This record gives sequence, structure tokens and C-alpha cells, in this order.
Amino acid sequence: MLSPAMNERLTRVGPGTPGGELMRRYWIPIAPYSQLDDNPVRKVRILGEDLVLYKDNSGKLGLVGDRCLHRNVDLQFGIPDDCGLRCPYHGWLFNQEGKCIERPMEATPCGEIKQKLKAYPVEELGGLVFAYMGPAPAPALPRWDLFVWPNAIRQIAIMQINCNWLQCHENTGDPTHSAWAHGHMFQYVLKQQGRFEEATAQAEHTLHTRLKTGVGIKELYAHPTTHGFAKGVNYSQELGADSDYTRDHSTVIFPFYTQTGKTGAPRSEYQIRVPIDDTHTYHICYQVYAAPPGVEVPKQDSVPWYEPPRHDENGRPILDYVLAQDALVWDAQGPITDRSAELLGRTDVPIVLLRRQLDEQITRVEQGEEPINFFRESPAIIYGTGEAPDYSKPLLKHNFRKLYHKGFFNDDADRYGPALEMVKDLHRRIEEFELAQGTATATENAPG
Ligand code: FES
Ligand SMILES: [Fe+2]
Repeated sequence: MLSPAMNERLTRVGPGTPGGELMRRYWIPIAPYSQLDDNPVRKVRILGEDLVLYKDNSGKLGLVGDRCLHRNVDLQFGIPDDCGLRCPYHGWLFNQEGKCIERPMEATPCGEIKQKLKAYPVEELGGLVFAYMGPAPAPALPRWDLFVWPNAIRQIAIMQINCNWLQCHENTGDPTHSAWAHGHMFQYVLKQQGRFEEATAQAEHTLHTRLKTGVGIKELYAHPTTHGFAKGVNYSQELGADSDYTRDHSTVIFPFYTQTGKTGAPRSEYQIRVPIDDTHTYHICYQVYAAPPGVEVPKQDSVPWYEPPRHDENGRPILDYVLAQDALVWDAQGPITDRSAELLGRTDVPIVLLRRQLDEQITRVEQGEEPINFFRESPAIIYGTGEAPDYSKPLLKHNFRKLYHKGFFNDDADRYGPALEMVKDLHRRIEEFELAQGTATATENAPG
């Protein structure tokens, strides 16, 4: 439970708010780069600011305020020029710094104009466009491992969620929701559809393990790491688990990333919770399908994007895949959930840490210090989990998510992805390689 004031502090993202000032110390992913192939000028709303992202004719990216200085025309209808973006109404030309550098029908030179469009630096990495909206100088764009890991196929799933970003992010501070949102609710939906038996016939189906993750919980653990925090669940045979064991859950990377799956695994993912404004979130699943040394991955010219559907053709919610189940419960907490009206339990231990870490980093910025994961220079690769892949360990036994060629893509958003056929072929080749090498391991059905 939080005080209403603390809830405001952690959730508001507009300019000048404590949380918004923290967010403005980070490079923020704002769009898949390949979206600019479809349309080189796009409106984006990030941290409560309305902006226009564009690629000009020289291939340079720009991000500027959305209203023309002349008479307020929305620049999402702008025309890319050789160096900047032109307003479609009277042709004023704005460069990457937001400065008007040409106004074709006016007698006086642009130099007389004191006003500028708002403008922010943008860079591309791993098929995503990132913006930095904070004070100059901009930090280095961190080269988080999944963005730069070689020998991998990638695709980007985007979704707009109609609630505050922290609700989405708290979901991964919450290992036990898996048993219900992805277990019992999943089961309920499949039974309603009359296809539970058929859909879950294979022992590796995610549902079986998701249900098991709710049984025999002894305690949850959570501890800070260099880049965020780690957490998981300790199980006890005495309390009904198959044995005494520990299951690590996904890694939280500050400020808004979660990594599921190991780097270098046949499937791993960043879930990125980008605040559009206080009550909307741009949710990015950055999906990576890597192969071990010895298996060649086909090269992609660009990283494709897709939008997994949340409703069927009759307007009914689609709830038979994991991301849609998460999206439902995030929305269902309300636009900004009232954390002063919560009743937290023992399973919320990691959420308490997540909130404390966020509050601490807001305080650092208030005190003029740099928050964690603020890099003046970025190494060639930064491992968010703190570990480089070690292929001598049985990394690849990492569960059903190396079996997409056998139908196991079906439980999550990946099933809608444009790279799915490539991924299925990759997983088939990984299996053949492992069998030939004698390194194939039994799959362990662990939730991602
Ligand atoms: S309104 Fe943009 S040039 Fe006139
Ligand atoms: Fe989930």
C-alpha cells in the first residue's frame, strides 16, 4: 500500500513531475525503425508530449514538436525534405534541431525567427528508434544485449495499453500471477472455447507448468542487481510442490525493461513499458530467437514489427495467449490504480522492492545525481542479467520455447509475428544440430 502522494510520485510522467524527470534521463524506444519504411513521418506521444518522428530524404532521423510555428498545422502531415521536414501548408522547413531554415514565400530570412520547435535526439539500435528527452548532453545509448546479440532473428510486437506504465511493469515484479492469469484463466478460456483437451494435450504445454507454479510456494525472494533486480520463488515439497526447488523469474532492468529467457537462447524477449502519458502505455515486446555456435541464422534486412490483436472480428477479447492475458489484467486495474487501496500479501515482496527502487532513483535525480543505467559511454554489449551466455551449460534446455516448429509458438503473441516461419525453421535446425552433436536435452517446461 502506498500513500496517494507516493502513488502520484511513481506514476506521473509529464514534464516537471518527479517520475517524468527520472524517465527523461533515459533513451526511450519510441517506434520500430521499419515503421518508417511504411510511412516516413509518424506522430508519437511519449511522456505526455506530442511529437513527430520522421526520416528525411538523406536518411537522417528527426523528432520534433507536432505543431508548425507558422499556423499550428500538425506536422504528422509533413513532407520529408533533403534535410528536415516541411510543413504541408506553406512549406516552412524545419531541421533536426527544430529550427526553421526556410520559408519559401516570406520576404524576411528565417534567422529572424527566435522560436524553435521542440526537438530531441533520436538514434536507431537493433531495429528500434530511441529518443532522449532530457537535459543535454545526452548520455550514451545503452547497448543492452538483446539489441545487439549476433546470430539471431528478431521481431517487434507493439501494443497500446490503456493504463499507466507502472501497472504493466509491476506485472513482472510479480512471479505468481503466472499461476492464475496464465494458468487458471487460460484454462477457463480454453474450456469455454471447448478446446482445452486438444490445446493442452502435449505435456510441454505451458499451461501445465503455469498451474503448477501456484502450488507449494514457500516464499518469494527479490534482491537488487547491478542493472535492476532479480526475483523468484522458493518451493517446498512439504507444502505440496514436487520437490524443494527454486525457480528464478524474469530479470527487471531499470527503468522499464524486463527480460524473459536467457540471452542467446532460442527465444528471449525484452518487455518494454514506455509511458505514452499518465494513463497510456506503449508496450514493446522485443523478441529474439538466437542460435548456438554452429547453427547459422538467416540475415534479416530489417526487423519487422506487428501488432498482436486483442479482439476478434466480433469485438470479443482474445485471451488464449500470454501477452493478451497480461494486457487484460493491466487495463483491469484502472487507468492509474489506487495503490492506497491495496492489500498486499507475501507474494508482493518483489513489487515492494520495485517501488522502492523507483522511488530511490527519482530521489537521485532530484538531488542532481545520475540514476542507475545512465551511461556516459556504453560498452559494445551490456548484459542486463549480468551474465554472458555460456553454451557449455545446458542453456538450450530452456523449455518449450525452443520448439516452435512443433507448435509451441501458439501460447503467446509470437504466433502473430511476421518472422514466425523463419523462427520455426530455426528451431527445427537447432534440434537437428543438437541431435547430431548429441547435446539435445530434455525440455523443461518453464514459464517464460
Ligand atoms: S502552417 Fe505550417 S507553413 Fe504555414
Ligand atoms: Fe504475465
